[in-house]
Amino acid sequence: MDIFEKRRSIRKYTDQPVTDEILHQLIEAARTAPSGHHTQPWRFIAVRSEEMKKRIVQADHNQEWMMSAPLFLVCVADGYVRLKDETIELNEETPYKEQKLVIRDTAVAIEHIVLKAAELGLGTCWTGYFTQKEMKEILEIPKDKHVVAVLTVGYPAEEPKPKERKAIEEILMYERWGK
Ligand SMILES: Cc1cc2nc3c(=O)[nH]c(=O)nc-3n(C[C@H](O)[C@H](O)[C@H](O)COP(=O)(O)O)c2cc1C
Repeated sequence: MDIFEKRRSIRKYTDQPVTDEILHQLIEAARTAPSGHHTQPWRFIAVRSEEMKKRIVQADHNQEWMMSAPLFLVCVADGYVRLKDETIELNEETPYKEQKLVIRDTAVAIEHIVLKAAELGLGTCWTGYFTQKEMKEILEIPKDKHVVAVLTVGYPAEEPKPKERKAIEEILMYERWGK
């Protein structure tokens, strides 16, 4: 359980940079994630420049605290792996079920990164308070992709207390819903 208990959303980071070696370890963790039909739709853009970080923060509901993180990982689901049509635009209104499937698989890989980061002593925070249009424009992401998250990554400069969790009895049932 250690790593699960250690993981917290971190919103304040030290100046220590995240090296390419660490970045590769995080992406290695993502690579091992399971995915439907082994489609591996996850893609990642590592962002370190102040200029790009600022633009991303603005699009992510101006969450200023994000700027203290030395690395942003923009986590993208590639709809093309299932839809095979680069003219299809994925956004909040898209009706295709394939979009949900690639987002689902990418979310699994993101959580692998988050847990690997905790193991390495890094902090992360998943953010998702943005629109597809704005984020895709900033990062020049093609229309048939969907930005699932912007993860802030860095060394924690805070130790947030664990948040209350729902009790097991509230979330676990046996044999049938409600039992
Ligand atoms: C899909 C998703 C989106 C989130 N978006 C944000 C966000 O935009 N800003 C933020 O500060 N935290 C965000 N969070 C972090 C949650 O607030 C946090 O996980 C939750 O409060 C539980 O706290 P903990 O992660 O420290 O256990 C997000 C988490 C998830 C899973």
